[in-house]
Amino acid sequence: MGLIPKEFIDELLNRADIVEVIDARVPLKKSGREYSACCPFHEEKTPSFTVSPVKQFYHCFGCGAHGTAIGFLMEYEHLDFVEAVHELARTAGLTVPRTGVDAPAVRVDQDSYALLQQVAEFYRRQLREHDAQGRANVAGGSLLRVPAPATLGHPARHRTPGATAEAKRAVDYLKGRGLTGEIAAEYGVGYAPSGWSHLAHAFAAAHPALVKLGLLVEKEGGGVYDRFRERIMFPIHDQRGRVIGFGGRVLGKDEPKYLNSPESAVFHKGRELYGLYQARKSLRKIERLLVVEGYMDVLALAQHGIRNSVATLGTATTREHLERVFRVAPEVVFCFDGDRAGREAAWRALEAALPLMHEGCQARFLFLPEGEDPDTLVRKEGQAAFEARVAAAMPLSDFFYEGLAKQTDIKTMDGRARLVELARPLLGRLPEGVFRHMMVTRLGEIAHVNTRILSGLLGIAGAAKPPRSGERARRLDDFTGEADAPMPPVRRAVALLLQRPVLAQAAGNPQRFAGTGIAGADILVSLLELLQAQPHLNTAALLERWRGTPHGRHLLKLAQWQPLLKEEEWPTEFLGALAQIERQGLEARREYLIGKSRIAPLSAEEKRELGDLLSPPPAGPLSG
Ligand code: UTP
Ligand code: MN
Repeated sequence: MGLIPKEFIDELLNRADIVEVIDARVPLKKSGREYSACCPFHEEKTPSFTVSPVKQFYHCFGCGAHGTAIGFLMEYEHLDFVEAVHELARTAGLTVPRTGVDAPAVRVDQDSYALLQQVAEFYRRQLREHDAQGRANVAGGSLLRVPAPATLGHPARHRTPGATAEAKRAVDYLKGRGLTGEIAAEYGVGYAPSGWSHLAHAFAAAHPALVKLGLLVEKEGGGVYDRFRERIMFPIHDQRGRVIGFGGRVLGKDEPKYLNSPESAVFHKGRELYGLYQARKSLRKIERLLVVEGYMDVLALAQHGIRNSVATLGTATTREHLERVFRVAPEVVFCFDGDRAGREAAWRALEAALPLMHEGCQARFLFLPEGEDPDTLVRKEGQAAFEARVAAAMPLSDFFYEGLAKQTDIKTMDGRARLVELARPLLGRLPEGVFRHMMVTRLGEIAHVNTRILSGLLGIAGAAKPPRSGERARRLDDFTGEADAPMPPVRRAVALLLQRPVLAQAAGNPQRFAGTGIAGADILVSLLELLQAQPHLNTAALLERWRGTPHGRHLLKLAQWQPLLKEEEWPTEFLGALAQIERQGLEARREYLIGKSRIAPLSAEEKRELGDLLSPPPAGPLSG
C-alpha cells in the first residue's frame, strides 16, 4: 500500500477546519476565542470539551481526550489513520495522493468496491429466486425483483436453470439453522449456485477485475470459472459497509466447509472483522465486543438479540484486529472452544492483546463447553443464559497466570522461580500503568516475592515512584499540565512553539542546541528545523508529524498547555528559554571538559574550547 505523503497531511490540516469537522458531529458553541461542547467521549452535563481554531486542536478538561482533526475522526468515527485522512480530505475537497509503487491503486479500488457490491447483490438474488419464482408463475413476468445495477459489469439478467429448487434448498438450510430472512438480509447473505460459470456469465465485462478479486479463477487453457459454487455466501464488509470479500459455506458435508475470498487490494484477513459494520450500525454505543470464530456464530448471536459479536476470518486474532476492536469498544471478550486447540488459540489472542492493555481497556476469555460453539449454545440456551456466560468470562489476568502456572510446579521454589522467568517477557509487553503494576503484584503473590524486589528482577518498573518533593521534573514527558509548575526551559520552548509555531522564525540556528545532551533538546531542534523550512505548518500538522512516535505523546500533552502569560509576552519568554538552554548546554560542555582533563590530557582543540568557556561572558552591548 502506498504511503500518504506528509506534505499532503500538512496541507490537509491547513485547509480543513477542525471547528467545522467537529461542529458537524458535535454542535459547538463559541466561548471566547475557543469553542466548547459537552464532551462526546464521556458523560457530562456541563461542557468541558474545547476546540481551539488557532491550534486546530481539541481538548477535554473532563476526560483528557485530545488531538487534531484527524485524531478526532479516528476517535469519534472509529476510523484508522488512513481512513480518517480520507474522510477529512473528502470534506476539504482534496484528493489523497499516494507515493509508492501502486499509486493508481486508489482508483482501481473504487471500481473494486462497486463491483464487489454488485456481486453481493447477484448472490442475494440467487437466494431470492425461489420467492420470486412463486410470484413470477402467477404474474408470468420478470423473475428478478432487484433491478440490475447500471454500471460496470452490466450483469446480465441471469437465472440459473433449475435454480429454483437449488435456491429453495439454500433457504431451507438457513432456516434449518434458525435464521430469519430479516437477519439474513441485514448481513446480506446470498447463494452461489452450482455450476461453473454463473458469475462469469453475469459479469462478462468484468473478468480481469473479478480474477484479481479472487471470485473467478483462470483456467489453465484460458477462460475462467466461478470460485464459489453451491455455497451459502457471506459478504464481508469493511467498517464503512463496503463489501470487500466473501466467505462461502457448503450446504452439505463437502470439503472444504468454508471457502474465503483470497486477499486482494481491498481485502486483508488479518485486519478485518466479520460483523463489525453491522454491530456498529445496530448499536449506538458498544460497551464490549465478543470475538468469535465463525460467520454462523455472528449470525446466530445476532438472531438471538446479541448484536455485539464479530468473527475473525479463519485466521488467528492479530494485533491489528485488536487495535480495531479497542477503537470501537473498551472491552473485548474472546469466545473460544474449551478444548486444547481453543485454549491455544486463546493464548495467542492473549499475547496479541498484551501490548494494547492501556488504561480503560479490558480483555476477558469465555471458554465454551466441549463440542459447543456460540451458535449451538445460544440456540440451545437462549440470549440471557449466553449473556450470563459472557458476564462471567475469565479476566485476562486469571487466564494469564493459570496458563503459566500450568507450565511449572508452583508448589516448589524452583517452579516459582521459573514462573517469574516465564512471566518476565510477557509482562514486559504490557504498557506501563496501573494494570501492569497489578499484574506484577499478582505475580509477587503467586511466587512469594516482594513486589519491589520483583520489579527489579523483571527489569520493568512495577510501581512508578512518586517524584521526591522539590525534585524538579527533568524529562520532557514529566510535564503535568499545571500551568504554574516551574517548567524546564526545553519544555517551555517546545510548549510555546506548539502554541505559536511562527516563533521558530526568531530562534536563530537550531544546531546550537544539538549535542548539548539536555533532555528534549533533540526534539526542539527537529521542531525548529522543520518550522524554519516550512513556516506554514500549524500545531495540528506538527502533532501529526510525530504521530505514533515516542515524542508524539509528549507533544500532544504539551499542546494542551494553557500559558498563563499574556500573548504579547510569549516571544520574550520563548527567546529567554532558548538563551537558558544555550547556557545550560555550555555549562554542561564546560563541566564535561573539566572532568575529562582530570583523567586524560585534552587535545589542543579541546583546550582552546575550554579556555573560551572559562573566559568571562561578554557584558552588555555598551561595553563592546
Ligand atoms: P468452524 O469449523 O468452527 O465452523 O470454522 P463453524 O463456524 O462452526 O461453521 P458451521 O457452524 O459448521 O457452519 C470457524 C471459521 O473458520 C473458518 C471460517 O471463517 C469459519 O467461519 N474456516 C473454517 C475456514 O476458513 N475454512 C474451513 O474449511 C473451515
Ligand atoms: Mn458452528
